[in-house]
Parts: sequence; C-alpha cells; structure tokens
Amino acid sequence: MFVSEALGVNSLGHLTVGGRDAVQLAQSYGTPLYVMDEGQIRRACRLYRRSIDRYYGGRGLVAYASKAFCCKEICRIANEEGLGLDVVSAGELYTAVTAGFPAEKIIFHGNNKTMEELTMALEYGVGRIVVDNITELHLLDQLARAAGSRPGVLLRIKPGVDAHTHDFVRTGQIDSKFGFALETGEAMEAAREAAAAGHLTFLGIHCHIGSQIFDTEPFQHAAQVMVGFLADVKRELGVELGELNLGGGFGIRYTPDNDPAPLDAYMEPVAAAIGAACRRTGMATPFIILEPGRSIAGPAGVTLYRVGGVKKIPGVRTYVSVDGGMFDNPRYALYQSRYSFVIANKAALSPAGTVTVAGKCCETGDLLGEDIPLPQAEPGDILAVLATGAYNYSMASNYNRNRRPPVVLVGGGEDRIIVRGETLEDLVRCDV
Ligand SMILES: Cc1ncc(COP(=O)(O)O)c(C=O)c1O
Repeated sequence: MFVSEALGVNSLGHLTVGGRDAVQLAQSYGTPLYVMDEGQIRRACRLYRRSIDRYYGGRGLVAYASKAFCCKEICRIANEEGLGLDVVSAGELYTAVTAGFPAEKIIFHGNNKTMEELTMALEYGVGRIVVDNITELHLLDQLARAAGSRPGVLLRIKPGVDAHTHDFVRTGQIDSKFGFALETGEAMEAAREAAAAGHLTFLGIHCHIGSQIFDTEPFQHAAQVMVGFLADVKRELGVELGELNLGGGFGIRYTPDNDPAPLDAYMEPVAAAIGAACRRTGMATPFIILEPGRSIAGPAGVTLYRVGGVKKIPGVRTYVSVDGGMFDNPRYALYQSRYSFVIANKAALSPAGTVTVAGKCCETGDLLGEDIPLPQAEPGDILAVLATGAYNYSMASNYNRNRRPPVVLVGGGEDRIIVRGETLEDLVRCDV
C-alpha cells in the first residue's frame, strides 16, 4: 500500500512508522517532525554490505553519503554497520569526528574545498580526499608537505555518461562543475600530476554520475569507462591504481510509479561490467567503493505536519496548508520532486479528491506537492509526507526565521530525539 515497507496502519486507522503510531508521535513531539526508522536504515546498510561481499569478495567499502542526512546518530549507526562515510564540508566532517567516526574511513568530497577544510582533513587524518580540480591538487600537496603528512587521494573524473535523471542532480557529463573531464585530456594531466606529487598518496579514481537513477545501464557504462581510464593511466604513466569509487545515485520509491529494481539487479551487471573491462585491459579488479546516500536514508524518513487552513478555490484548486514547508523540505520548490502523502489519522480512508499541499513560507512557490490525492483534509489533521529521510533535514533552512524541526528515531518499539528542534533563542544565537 505504501512506498516503504516500514509503514503500516494500526487498529485506530493511524499510520505507523517503524511500528510507532505517527499521530502519537506528532502529539508527543509536536509538528513539524522528522521521523526516521532505525530498522530501515540498518537494513539498507546491510544490504549494501552484503552486495559488496557477494560481488567483490569483500574487497570494497560502502561509504554512507552523509549529505543525504547528517547528524551524530546516523554517523554512529553507519559506523556500527561497518560503513565508511562520505563528507563534503567542514560541518559534516566535524559531525562525523565528534560522533566518534573513524577518520580513516571518511572520504572527503567537494568541488571547492577551502583551505580550512583541507587542513581539517589532514589534522583529523581523513582516509581519502577526492580531489576535484588542479588548484586543489596543488594546494593539498602544499598543505600536506607543511603538515608532514601524505594523504590518500582519488581524482574525481567526469566519465561523460548521461544518467537519465533530473538536470540538477546529473553530474557525470562534461558540462558539470564536478571533476576532471576525460575527453579533453584534463583527467590524464591531473593523474600525471597526482602521481608525481611529492606529498600525496595517489590511490585511485572516483565518479558519481547523478542521483535518483533507475536504469542500470548508466552505472555499467560509467564503470567500463572508469576501468578504461585506470588502464590508460597504467599504460601512459606506468601507475597501477588500486581503487575505484563509483559514487552513489541509486533511485528510491517516492511515489508508486517509481520502480527501483532490487539492489542486486544493479550490483550484478555493474560487477560483471567491471570484471569484463578488467579482463579486456589486463587490469586486476580494483578495490570498489560505493557512496549511497538517498537509498539509505530516504525511505527511512517520514515528515509529520499539522494541517491548518484548507482553502477551496472553486474551479481552481484546494490548498491544504501545513505548519512546515520549503524550510524543512525545499525539494518540491527546487525541482518539483514528487512525494506520497497520507493523512496519518485517516490512513485507512480512500482519497476524496486531489489537493495542493502548501507550506507556511512567504513564497507562492512554497508547495510540498500538487495534485495530491487525499481523504477530506481538515484543520488539525496530521499530514505525513513519505520517504523524506534524504535531502530534507540536510537541506532545511531557517527561511522566514522558521525553526528547524526535531528528528525522532524510532526503533525497537521506542522513539527518541536524535536532533532537538531549534528554539527561538537558537535563531538569534549568532545575531550581534
Ligand atoms: C560524490 C557523491 N557521492 C555520493 C552521493 C550520494 O548520492 P545518492 O544520495 O544519490 O546516493 C552524491 C550525491 O550528490 C555525491 O555527490
């Protein structure tokens, strides 16, 4: 019935998340409220690890892409599940390290890492830094020399693959701000410099072709191109690189018409493509790194809102306004991302019509969805938006000086706050 297996309906006709009554959660913690299901997160982590074991004989690492949802508790969970961690800023790095995440299993990304961020990465002993451009390569080499260290680096490569996804989340093509282009010779030049750099340990290459991808073909194509580049580097520079990081990007089910294949349906053909490309080029199979974010955190999340005004505009549409909006979930306003909606206190009822769900920000574009089928919505109802675990809390803002909602983790028949909601004092904390 729902887009996620961890959701259900109890005898009261209320939506349940990880076995907890969503209406009760809204009453206990207030709204808006992010709810994350711990069991779902852990199951996803285990699925990825099992795939690495199965298809690469354990010679690989799954690094959770913390940009999807970052707080100390998910770093602890990822660590307990044996994952690595992908971070892209000083803030994500600090969160991970203060949560006790082992620095050697952290992968540091970003297309414009600052001096502060690179210095932090060296001080903490981050295991892998993914270098995006030549300026950064030179800067990191200098910083490493000054620090007396020799960090492991991968180069971010644009494999020139069309990932068949939304323009804003497509990254593997030549016109992208991320990484070195293959076609222009830029990538080989960067590899030459990385191999010659006196204070860097050149470990391998990385690509990430985009996000919310359902086809397996772009992943296979990217893997083949990347192995081809490893072979080119060996032939031209005499350097045999041991690591291939293929990024994240696996699609999830936001609405019933999204139909992601089971993980093995991606992993098996990609592993086969890597195996074939290695045999063809005489390369040993590299150590494989994957960086899923959305597919680990996304399905685990539900956001709960309280309905305020219901505005019927005859012949036009009905607006159902909630007490959150683009400040806790900017994805519809940004790129018309579609979600599934359920009135948590009427979860067993069938739709009575379609509505537009509006947020409370002073922006006409502050919508969470349009043409949403719902039972009759009334003030006071608890509206649940499903599969909001990724790129919601992490993209939240204080627009209109709204307070970012708390995050509650449900699991093992319990619920607890893992990120407290902001207070009004928090909002003025940095004001001078
Ligand atoms: C370098 C890199 N790795 C991994 C990810 C995670 O992607 P996803 O959440 O689609 O799995 C991203 C997302 O933008 C990324 O840029």
